[in-house]
Amino acid sequence: MFKERLLTPGPTIIPQKVLQAMELPMLHHRSEVFKKELLKACDGIRWLLSWDNNPLFLACSGTGALEASVLNVCKPGDTIITVNGGVFGARWAQIAERLQLKAHEIQVEWGSPVTEDQVVAAVTQHPEARAFCIQHSETSTTVLHPVERIVRKVKELSPSMLTLVDGISACATTPVPGDTTTIDIFIAGSQKALMLPPGLSVVALSERAWKAVEETPRRSLYFDFLLERKSLLSGETSWTPTSTLIVGLNAAIEMFKAEGLEAMYTRHRTLSRMCHIGIQTLGCKLLATDAPCPSVTGFLPPNGIDADKVRNEVRTSYSIRLAGGQGAFKGKILRIGHMGFVDPFDVLAGVTAIGLTLNKLGASTDVAKATSAMTLEMGK
Ligand SMILES: Cc1ncc(COP(=O)(O)O)c(C=O)c1O
Repeated sequence: MFKERLLTPGPTIIPQKVLQAMELPMLHHRSEVFKKELLKACDGIRWLLSWDNNPLFLACSGTGALEASVLNVCKPGDTIITVNGGVFGARWAQIAERLQLKAHEIQVEWGSPVTEDQVVAAVTQHPEARAFCIQHSETSTTVLHPVERIVRKVKELSPSMLTLVDGISACATTPVPGDTTTIDIFIAGSQKALMLPPGLSVVALSERAWKAVEETPRRSLYFDFLLERKSLLSGETSWTPTSTLIVGLNAAIEMFKAEGLEAMYTRHRTLSRMCHIGIQTLGCKLLATDAPCPSVTGFLPPNGIDADKVRNEVRTSYSIRLAGGQGAFKGKILRIGHMGFVDPFDVLAGVTAIGLTLNKLGASTDVAKATSAMTLEMGK
């Protein structure tokens, strides 16, 4: 028997404390008790993001929040600049097309971060762009874009250009890459390091973004940020919220407070380093060598071994679920998620299972050497 271990970059393992909080009898979303939970969640997110304004809670997955954010600050015909370095970076342009916007995509090689030069060229070429959109962590390529530097540069070149940051797979694994002076909209999602089931998105806006929302024609009822802001004044959401997940979020934030933000970020860095060392010792090729993100590690198996075969075998034999590649990386890579409720022993188990599986499939990797190198890293 092997315990089920979910080492995917979303959904992620949910801690017992969060599950227990969500198990309590169902609250009515217009009740005073729930209003308290919602306002507590606002405080918690403001603490987590070091954000001045209350966030909005949307009942949708991350893509819904990306689309809602663009929709609320852009009108048909507007241009947006997007960083396309993977599946999620490409999503901005898909959203733009449906919303009748023009997207100028900065094409970034998969596995690499965007450079400041690329951003300067795009912003200089399109000073009319209403918004600049980027992922903090591009989950599909496991890259962490240098967002802090990039959004500062965008604001320097074009102070009125809005900056939209998809922090879905980075939030709670690494510091927010800026504040309301450089980031106008920051988006987080529940099924990642927030340690919750899928279905809840968090959107935090700067004062500049709120002004832009006020100036933009309303094009959606469900995703009307002005309605949401008004509802929040009376401790409610406009539509039926993911109440259970909001209660769970409060339990997750209590756990974050008990661990401490710095300790959380350090843990994610350690997990990431352990994974890199272990995987490389097994002879695998790391995907994002320049700027790997702390939430997920991507790699190619050695000797041309089929990545999906490894993934299936690891799941069947050791009950550990890994993720495969997406888009152009489909069938070629493997990804180990290590965000949220993940500790060094989980990563140790994941890499050990990968090593044993590679050997079953014909490689001759030194699994003990890999685990030993990882254990040394864990002790640092
Ligand atoms: C960086 C990033 N952006 C956006 C999303 C949203 O995708 P979905 O709507 O499927 O949750 C994800 C989910 O994996 C993500 O990792």
